[in-house]
Amino acid sequence: MIFGATGDLAKRKLFPSLYRLYQKGKLSERFAVVGVARRALSNEEFQLSVKESIEAASDKNGNHDEFISHFHYHSHDVTDSSSYLSLKQMASDLDSHYGLGGNRIFYLAMAPEFFGTIAEHLKADGLTDVAGFKRLVIEKPFGHDVESAKQLNKQIRNAFSEDEIYRIDHYLGKEMVQNIEVIRFANAIFEPLWNNRYISNIQLTSSEVLGVEERGRYYETSGALRDMVQNHMLQMVALLAMEPPIRLTTEEIRSEKVKVLRAMRPLEGDAVNEHFVRGQYGKGKIDEEEVPAYRDEPMVDPSSNTETFVAGKLLIDNFRWAGVPIYIRTGKRMETKSTKIVIQFKDIPMNLYYQSEQTLNPNLLVIHIQPGEGISLYLNAKKSGQNVEATPVKLNFANKGIDGINTPEAYEKLLFDCMRGDATNFTHWDEVALSWSFVDKISEVWESEKAENFPNYESGTMGPREADQLLEKDGFFWWPVTDLNVDNC
Ligand code: BG6
Repeated sequence: MIFGATGDLAKRKLFPSLYRLYQKGKLSERFAVVGVARRALSNEEFQLSVKESIEAASDKNGNHDEFISHFHYHSHDVTDSSSYLSLKQMASDLDSHYGLGGNRIFYLAMAPEFFGTIAEHLKADGLTDVAGFKRLVIEKPFGHDVESAKQLNKQIRNAFSEDEIYRIDHYLGKEMVQNIEVIRFANAIFEPLWNNRYISNIQLTSSEVLGVEERGRYYETSGALRDMVQNHMLQMVALLAMEPPIRLTTEEIRSEKVKVLRAMRPLEGDAVNEHFVRGQYGKGKIDEEEVPAYRDEPMVDPSSNTETFVAGKLLIDNFRWAGVPIYIRTGKRMETKSTKIVIQFKDIPMNLYYQSEQTLNPNLLVIHIQPGEGISLYLNAKKSGQNVEATPVKLNFANKGIDGINTPEAYEKLLFDCMRGDATNFTHWDEVALSWSFVDKISEVWESEKAENFPNYESGTMGPREADQLLEKDGFFWWPVTDLNVDNC
């Protein structure tokens, strides 16, 4: 059952992902999808909208009719028990028709203020009373801060146990985010170096070119810190910094990630502005076109204090990472769309190859999450010719080069994992609570002090100058993400 079935997420991501799974034979014929939303629609109208969304996502001729015949629609009021009772009847009819064995997935793809109410009704009105499994998939944001997240968790935990709750962080479905673990734990050459003896700093960038678009109302209550850092950025940090799990089970991996979040040094008072920088985009040019400042976007307060950019320095206080800064930055209306991780290794003890001031380039391992997927390793090698001089070389692995196919989209993988009951790539409550607690301290300070210098970066740039200074203070600089792009092999 997809709650919010007439919404953007369902149309852009969920229906196309289900369709791709169907085409690949990963959905048997024994499935039904119930679209749940407020609007009055007939089954046929709903099926047509599903068909349009699949076609819009590129596939014009396939077995659409067969696929959409599995879709059914329920017009629903999320606060009204009688709606749930008729939904229950519909679900049990479909269960007998398709032989579903009482297995149910409830996907909440809608405004978060209704998550708790829906979960409570699902239980109170008997929809969770099933012979098979029941799972709840829940979109972000999971709360607005640790207190509201706790409150929400309490409400949904009355109806579902922790192992039945699948909290989506779509970054965890990305191919190269999942690859972090494999690169680290399947290679003898990285793990021995993956610590403060050999790594000088780590940089994570997730930059976007798009502005806030039509989401001003939501974004005004969120900002980049809650929208991107609390979830996607900290999840990537946890995967990069965790200890090897003793085996690849959901529990073991999650428990290692939780330890990283627990070891993150909390920031309070003055430390917040020493370690974190915020920014807001002003007007500027993207692809030669003038774009408005954040404060001139629809549904945004013209004197808004909301940050559209965050850069920060994280410290993980454990044996492996003590003293290694992990820098993160994310923002809207930046120069380029790019998510990359750069691991910078320490300099070698002595430079034999240059007499003058010139220094050797440090070794870098770059994990390209998007748009190109791959890994690059920067080494130094001999420059051709008479003299023995070193020159940087790059070893590239572009993911698409391996088998020539597009990697599955994040939602496709996550939906499939949920159907199989694998919660590894979903966030556990402990991770959610710890990352909110970390981020809350920063928002408290930022909310108490108005940012006098907003807007402080021009659209189409890599953010405010203070974000560069954050690294310069430590003797580093942001590796320019556009120069590091992975080439297609
Ligand atoms: C979402 C945020 O979680 O992630 C958006 O709410 C952001 O504001 C998006 O644009 C970025 O996702 P991706 O996959 O395009 O990097």
